[in-house]
Amino acid sequence: MKNILVIGSVGQIGSELTMELRKRYGNGNVVAGYRATKPTGDLLESGPAEVVDATNIEQIADVVKKYKIDTIYNLAAILSAVGESKPLIAWNIGIGGLMNCLEVAREYGCAVSTPSSIGAFGSSTPLDNTPQDTIMRPGTMYGVSKVAGELLGDYYYKRFGVDTRSVRYPGIISNVTLPGGGTTDYAVEIYYEAIKNKKYTCPLGAGTFLDMMYMPDAIDAAIDLMEADPSKLVHRNSFNITAMSFDPEIIAKEIKKHIPDFVMDYDVNAMKQGIANSWPNSMDDSCARKEWGWDPKWNLEKMTLDMLQAIRKKHEMGLF
Ligand code: NAD
Ligand code: SER
Repeated sequence: MKNILVIGSVGQIGSELTMELRKRYGNGNVVAGYRATKPTGDLLESGPAEVVDATNIEQIADVVKKYKIDTIYNLAAILSAVGESKPLIAWNIGIGGLMNCLEVAREYGCAVSTPSSIGAFGSSTPLDNTPQDTIMRPGTMYGVSKVAGELLGDYYYKRFGVDTRSVRYPGIISNVTLPGGGTTDYAVEIYYEAIKNKKYTCPLGAGTFLDMMYMPDAIDAAIDLMEADPSKLVHRNSFNITAMSFDPEIIAKEIKKHIPDFVMDYDVNAMKQGIANSWPNSMDDSCARKEWGWDPKWNLEKMTLDMLQAIRKKHEMGLF
C-alpha cells in the first residue's frame, strides 16, 4: 500500500497524474497538494486535498505526517519561458522546493520523484540522439535548476539513502490542463487553435525539432519508474525518455490530414526560439528502456487523432 503526496497537483501533469495514482493506489491514499489554485471537479472530490507550498517545509512535513506519506511526487516548478522573466522565483521553487521535499523525505523515509527536463541540456550538448550521460550546461534558469535538481536527487540517494528517481521529460502534450508557460507549449496550443480557428501562428520556426510525448505515456513513465526494481537501476536522476520528435511543419501536416483547411504561419518568438535551439532534437532513451522497461505507446499519428477528438468535444461543450 502506498500513501502518496503530489505537490503541484493542479498543473498540466499533476492534474492527470494525481487521478491515475488514485485509480491505481486508491482514492484516499493520494493527496492532491496545491498552493494558490484549489483543485476543482473530480480532482477535488475523488480524494484528499491539502495546501502544500513546496517552499514551506513545515507544510510538507505536516501533510507527510498526517497521511503517513511514503512517496512524494514534487511537480512544483516554473517552466522554461516564464522562468526567464522570474529567475529568482524559478530557482526558489525549483531548488528550494526540492530541498524541502528531500529533507522531509530523509526524516520520514519517503521516496521522491521530481521530473527533470530536456531543458537540462544546453547548446554544447550533442543535440542529435542526445546520450543519457553527456555535457549539461543549460542556458536558462529552468535548466540550471533542473541540473542542480538532478544532482541533489543523486546526492540524497547516495548520502542518505533517500529513494530518489526521476525522468527527463520532453515536451508533454495533453488535453486536460493547459501547459504552464514552457517552450514546448506550442505543440498543445496548435491543437486548440486548429479546432477553434483552423489557424495557428507558431512561435517556433520551421525546422525546430524537439522531443515530445503524449500525457498517458508521461504518466506511465512517472509511475513505472517509481515501481521499478531498484537493483536494476544504474541511473536514478534523471532518465532520458522520449516518444516522438517533430518540428512545427510535421505536426501541422499531421493536423491537416484531419482538418484539410487548417493553416499555420510563423511569428517567431526570439526568446523561445533561442531556448528551443539549445535543446535536443532527439534524445537517446535506451538506458530507460534497458533499466526499467520504458516503452512509449503513443506516436504522432495516434496522438493527433486522440487530441483532436478530445479537444473537439471540449469545444462543442463550450469549454473554450
Ligand atoms: P505546471 O506549470 O503546469 O504545474 C506546476 C504546478 O506547480 C502548478 O499547479 C503551480 O501552481 C504549482 N506550483 C508552483 N509553485 C509552487 C509552490 N511553491 N508550491 C507548490 N506548488 C507550486 O507544470 P507541469 O507541466 O505540470 O510540470 C510538472 C513538472 O514536470 C515540472 O517539474 C516541470 O519542470 C516538469 N516538466 C514538464 C514538462 C511539460 O512539458 N509539461 C516537460 C518537462 C518537464
Ligand atoms: N515543456 C517544458 C518547457 O518547455 C520542457 O521542460 O519548459
